[in-house]
This record gives sequence, structure tokens and C-alpha cells, in this order.
Amino acid sequence: MANIVTIERHILEKQKAFPEATGVFTQILYDMALATKLIARETTRAGLVEILGATENHNSYGEQQQKLDVFADEMIFKINDHTGRFCAMASEEHDDIIEIPTHFDSGKYVLLYDPLDGSSNIDVNVSIGTIFAIHRKVSNSPRGTLEDILQPGRKLAGAGYVIYGASTMMVYSTGQGVHGFTLDPGVGEFLLSHDDIRVPDKALYYSANAGNEKYWTPGVRRYAKWLQGIEGEGRKPLGHRYIGSLVADFHRNLLRGGVFFYPGDLQAPDKPYGKMRLMFEAQAIAFLAEQAGGYASDGIGDILDIQPHSLHQRVPLIVGNRDLVETAEQYIRDYDQEWINAYLPFRNKERELA
Ligand code: AHG
Ligand code: MN
Ligand code: MN
Repeated sequence: MANIVTIERHILEKQKAFPEATGVFTQILYDMALATKLIARETTRAGLVEILGATENHNSYGEQQQKLDVFADEMIFKINDHTGRFCAMASEEHDDIIEIPTHFDSGKYVLLYDPLDGSSNIDVNVSIGTIFAIHRKVSNSPRGTLEDILQPGRKLAGAGYVIYGASTMMVYSTGQGVHGFTLDPGVGEFLLSHDDIRVPDKALYYSANAGNEKYWTPGVRRYAKWLQGIEGEGRKPLGHRYIGSLVADFHRNLLRGGVFFYPGDLQAPDKPYGKMRLMFEAQAIAFLAEQAGGYASDGIGDILDIQPHSLHQRVPLIVGNRDLVETAEQYIRDYDQEWINAYLPFRNKERELA
């Protein structure tokens, strides 16, 4: 009989070389596992209890908050605020960093999270997710500060997501490869189901919101035609799959090979940076992509090398098989100089720590 590998056993086996991380990461992943099991329970009951629909409040992006967004956000904070493992947290749903209440100990890590990814899909029973990332505390202030949070993705200590789909899966990496655990609802335990996930060399899909094609830049439009086998050397077309939840689109492409892109455009010349959140979505996804042999770019270069300047900074995101992402970068270099000129000043803004 094959081994029953829990998150704890897996971390212990993978992290022998990093004893410092083993204990804390096991505990952090268990805390995230508990939070997401509680969220999973609500998502599966969403139609039954008063958790459907939107609240009357909006987040810092001006997006109406779904009740499940708020529930998930509070759940993750409450499970992690008292453990003494974090010195601060930051959530897509909160304007500022979230301090650890002073009556709790401050820890050596910061937790960044998108509590509910794909909110527009909640009420229509389509897969949604939770994204999280863990940076190490670097400032010497007693509690966490923006300096501890606004670090490049290259510095991440770990990252992961949970996808609430046909099954509930947790996918994580602490720098030793990417590993997937599937929740066995009968026992309430995440069990190893996908050890050492690698992006397949042969890609099957591309994912993009084709409804935005009218606004795409010339290079991105050509790139989409190249993926469809129309432009360039007439390659075999990739299938188009778009769920509208980054976690679900990324997860499928991670397992089957493919590319997801949500590009920047010039529809609003003062907002050339696209929609994805660098700190709450793109960094974690880029870290996992690289750990699985893939690559994530904002169209200019590696997402992991971007020095964040603000908490809710948005970036274009092109992520998946390295060759597909690098081809996108080439099309953008060749045809999108106007967009590059508009985007670079945002990409290179000074970090705001005040
Ligand atoms: P969130 O629900 O956390 O705001 O994230 C939604 C994001 C991402 O999950 C998805 O890929 C993208 O928005 C979909 O955007 P469009 O609906 O504009 O395609
Ligand atoms: Mn999201
Ligand atoms: Mn969200």
C-alpha cells in the first residue's frame, strides 16, 4: 500500500536540509490548511446558507466585496493572528498592512494573501481559490512594517494556493519543488496527490479573456494569433480555456502545460499595468511557476525580480511554459514600444514605505 503522506510528513521529508524552516512551515501550512478547510466548507454550502451575494462595502480596488471574500479574509486572519509566527499580514481586501494585535507575539514571517480569488465565480458555482505567500521579516522594527512586506518575489520563503473545485487541493512550495495535496473530506486531511509537479514541456492550453482583445496592444494581439497557429510559422493551435479564476486557470496550465496572460494595455493610458495584484496574486503564482520549471513575466521581465513599490501594485501577468512566456516578451519588444514607454515609469516607481 502506498504511503499516506500528510503535509507534515511531506515537509519533514523534503525539508531535511532546512531544519529551520521545517517546524515553522509545517505549522504555517497546517494553519492555512485549517483556514481553507473552513472556507471550503462555506463554498460547498454557499447555495444553502446566507453567504451568497455581495456586501454593501467595497475593497481598495473599488470592487464590491462578496460575502465569501469577507468570510475568507476574516478566517485566514483569525487562524494566523495569535500563533506568534507572523509579524504582520497583508490582504487584498485591506487597504493597509494588518498588524498583529499587540497582546500576541510577533514572529519572523509575514503572510500575504488573496482570501478569495475568482470572486465573480462564487455565485455561479465555478472553481475559486485562495492564494498565499510568505516573506521573511527583514526590518529590525519590533513589529512588522511595509519594509517586511514590499520585498521582491525572489525573496519569498514560500507560497501556495488552495483551489475549491471538484476537489479541494492545496498546492505549495517552500523552494523545494511544487507539491499538491488533495483534501480527503472524510477525514479532513490534505493528503499528497501530486508530488513534485513539473510543467509538461508540451503545452495544451492558453488562457486569456478574449473579451479584452479590442484593447490588447499590437504585440499581444499577434501573440494570441501565434498561440492560435494563425500568426508565425503556423504552429498547432493551443486550446483556449478561460475560467476567470486565476488559481483555476493557472492550476490547469500547471498540470497540462500552457500559458495564462492578463496583459497591460493602453485602454486607460494612465493605467497600463493590467489587473493582477503583484503582492497578492502574481508573486505567489510566479514563485510556484518557477519552482515547477515554468516562468512568469509582466511582459518586460521576471515577476520575481520586480521590486514592489506599493502594497496594491498591479502588474501584467504572463505565466506558464517558459518558451511560451518568452515568446510573448518578444512580441511585446517587437511591437509594443508605446505600451512599454507608458508602463516602465509605473514598474520603476520608488518604494513607498511611509
Ligand atoms: P479576485 O476575485 O481575487 O479579484 O481575482 C479575480 C482575478 C483573477 O482571479 C482572474 O484571473 C481575473 O480576475 C479575471 O478577470 P476578468 O474577469 O477581467 O477576466
Ligand atoms: Mn484574485
Ligand atoms: Mn480576491
